[in-house]
Amino acid sequence: MSESLVIKGFDGARKLAGSVRVTGAKNAALKAIAGTILFRDEVTLSNIPEINDVERMFELLSLLGANVAQKKRGVYEVLVPKTLSTTMTPEIAKRFRGSVVATGPILARFGRVSFPHPGGCLIGSRPIDLFIEGFKNMGATVHLKDSVYTVTAPEGGLRGATFFLKHQSVTVTETFMMAATLAKGTTVIKNAAMEPEIEDLANFLNTCGAKISGHGTPTITIRGGKLLSGKGHTYKTMPDRIDAGSFLVLGALAAKELTITDCNPLHLEALIEALRTAGVHIETTKNTIVVRAGNKAYTGVGIKTHEYPGFPTDLQAPMVIFLTQAEGESMVFETIFEGRLNYVEALSSMGASIVTMDPHRVLVRGTTSLKGRNLKSPDLRAGLAFVIAAVIAKGESVIHNVDTTIDRGYEDIEDRLRAIGVEVERVRDQSAS
Ligand code: EPU
Repeated sequence: MSESLVIKGFDGARKLAGSVRVTGAKNAALKAIAGTILFRDEVTLSNIPEINDVERMFELLSLLGANVAQKKRGVYEVLVPKTLSTTMTPEIAKRFRGSVVATGPILARFGRVSFPHPGGCLIGSRPIDLFIEGFKNMGATVHLKDSVYTVTAPEGGLRGATFFLKHQSVTVTETFMMAATLAKGTTVIKNAAMEPEIEDLANFLNTCGAKISGHGTPTITIRGGKLLSGKGHTYKTMPDRIDAGSFLVLGALAAKELTITDCNPLHLEALIEALRTAGVHIETTKNTIVVRAGNKAYTGVGIKTHEYPGFPTDLQAPMVIFLTQAEGESMVFETIFEGRLNYVEALSSMGASIVTMDPHRVLVRGTTSLKGRNLKSPDLRAGLAFVIAAVIAKGESVIHNVDTTIDRGYEDIEDRLRAIGVEVERVRDQSAS
């Protein structure tokens, strides 16, 4: 049976106040968990968000034969034994895209990996050609049978290679950074992605013995070596910039004053810059963001999603909600995923004025008052955008399928929303089950 959030809208009134703590980053934690496969001993991971995708990544490792122990909330110990199954089961791998990053370390350490085409949010075609090409570049052979890929490393293990990524892909960069850590010789990844989660992973692996340089730039060099050691090191997941950014947008639209704590504003420059241009009052310190209601109307601002440090595709949907409340026309250009504007139809049903130009571009006309509706989200980021829309709308909204969207990536969402004044309740959903 699926679950829903029922939210009472404030009809544009700014009622929220207080502070909200940002959790560890989903897209950093998932990779660090996969990274434990590179270790010869136990690894302690902390500030791990308690969300569905993380639970599945631990489940994936456990099913392969790793020992995973939760020490307390957000703190886990993982020990990968000398032998591990190298077959990723479709039941889990098909449910979340992040599973694909485990293929690199499994192949590098155990010489073989088989996996189905990974699943994840319905935001576009999401091919895996760059993974397949990368494995082959490192000397592996790849067979595809009945939708399952089987990759086998060459005699003596993966070999260092130089490759140029035709897209600056986040998970491809991470997968090959990890695979190369145990390969023979040096690997150079050109046109690598520069997302902070990649730096976070590289810094952690380096502390434990890896030799990665250039992370955070488009050219990453990895000198292959031995298994890593977690002795004396605890990984602390970096703050989730998408969680922080979503609360910032919510604060800009619905708060008298909202403080976002335990975040890193430097990871959110593109969003902060866009919101300030639109007229939002934002103050930052090293690890907090304060957003305050002003008395002037917001003005529209054009957005084009881009690889980091550009405007993140994962914050595009919350930003569109913001733009429905900003005066004038704003063009939004989604450049990364062709299915990431699928939610706008539902938003139009709430009263938003949005013209779809093509699958990548919409024109948002503001300001419009939104009305509460029944909403079914196509992905987790659009799910949180619907929460923001529901809070500012008039009347009640029901956001369905929360357990397969929002819960994948946001910890304790309704408790954190309630603590700052949102009127929200979780209910079991008979109709959508
Ligand atoms: N691409 C290919 N071939 C490949 C891999 C990627 O053509 O083999 C293309 C994609 O189709 C896309 C572009 O490369 O056009 C960039 O996508 P990328 O591979 O960077 O996306 P991802 O690694 O699958 C990660 C995050 C996403 C986030 C994107 C972009 C994880 C687990 N996922 O996905 O997060 O939107 O980077 O920043 O890290 C989310 O958390 O909701 C989410 C979808």
